[in-house]
Amino acid sequence: MKLLLNYFSATGNTAKIAKVLEEAFAAAGAEVDLHDITPYSRRREKIELKPYQAVVFGAPIHSWRAPRLVREWMRTLDGQGKKCSMFFSYGGFGVHPTHYSTRKILEEQGFIVVSSAEFPASHTFNIGGWRAMAGRPDVTDFAAAKEYAERTYKRFTGEDPAVTGEFEKTDYTEETLDAIEAFRFKVLTQLPGRGGDDCSMCMICEELCPSGAMNAEPGEADKEKCIACLGCVHNCPDSVLKINDMSQGWALKLQMEQITEDEMRKKKSRIYL
Ligand SMILES: Cc1cc2nc3c(=O)[nH]c(=O)nc-3n(C[C@H](O)[C@H](O)[C@H](O)COP(=O)(O)O)c2cc1C
Ligand code: SF4
Ligand code: SF4
Repeated sequence: MKLLLNYFSATGNTAKIAKVLEEAFAAAGAEVDLHDITPYSRRREKIELKPYQAVVFGAPIHSWRAPRLVREWMRTLDGQGKKCSMFFSYGGFGVHPTHYSTRKILEEQGFIVVSSAEFPASHTFNIGGWRAMAGRPDVTDFAAAKEYAERTYKRFTGEDPAVTGEFEKTDYTEETLDAIEAFRFKVLTQLPGRGGDDCSMCMICEELCPSGAMNAEPGEADKEKCIACLGCVHNCPDSVLKINDMSQGWALKLQMEQITEDEMRKKKSRIYL
């Protein structure tokens, strides 16, 4: 069986899970094509799904959904009745309604969703001083990822004929979720920028920016395009791209989410089959 494993990963967490899944699917007998859809250019290429018997989609959770760029890209696909599975990395806070809403998009595009999974991972905003899920994903998450691939593979081959069950529906409208998404800029008050610092002008920040927001020349992000993924800050070899210090807001974030750091650390990877 030939599988296409797509993933979006700005700071590498989802990519780590994708790598484990690739190996586990291959060990189960699949021929896997790993396809990184993070760069802007990759999402513009037409994807030929004909050679594949099944497709896997991986993304981080951004404000309770798959990132906008991923949702938009999914809407360009023709699922042709193929089986697919989903997986998400998330920073220890909200997950709902990501599984439900992403499955809805994929089904509307003609896919049959057979499984899903979520994996705790270091929160992107730890770059700015938060302390959510540091050190994750770890060996326990990788073991869960392996199990997820093994069980999903049986659904892909038909050895297990089931499709995934219902996910908890959401009462939030797309407009409300858009407003929640916009709220990230209340936390990230200073978009990635170089300020007065010199750099080697390697252009990596501009080339890797998934939304086309980063202009390496002045070292500035365009607020209209930026999705706050912090890939540019994470990947800058000279470490000169900065954001605002978010450490002051960490205690308030925990209070708002009604969770402690200890409770958060106990969260485990979950497989939905
Ligand atoms: C803009 C933005 C929004 C996020 N929203 C959530 C969220 O709603 N819930 C959560 O638990 N983590 C959230 N995170 C954390 C990421 O889901 C998490 O760090 C993820 O593993 C990043 O994946 P990547 O390294 O593959 O980019 C958010 C991160 C960013 C950048
Ligand atoms: S990635 Fe960093 S070093 Fe490279 S151009 Fe951008 S700011 Fe400069
Ligand atoms: S400019 Fe914005 S969208 Fe582009 S990599 Fe940086 S944070 Fe992500």
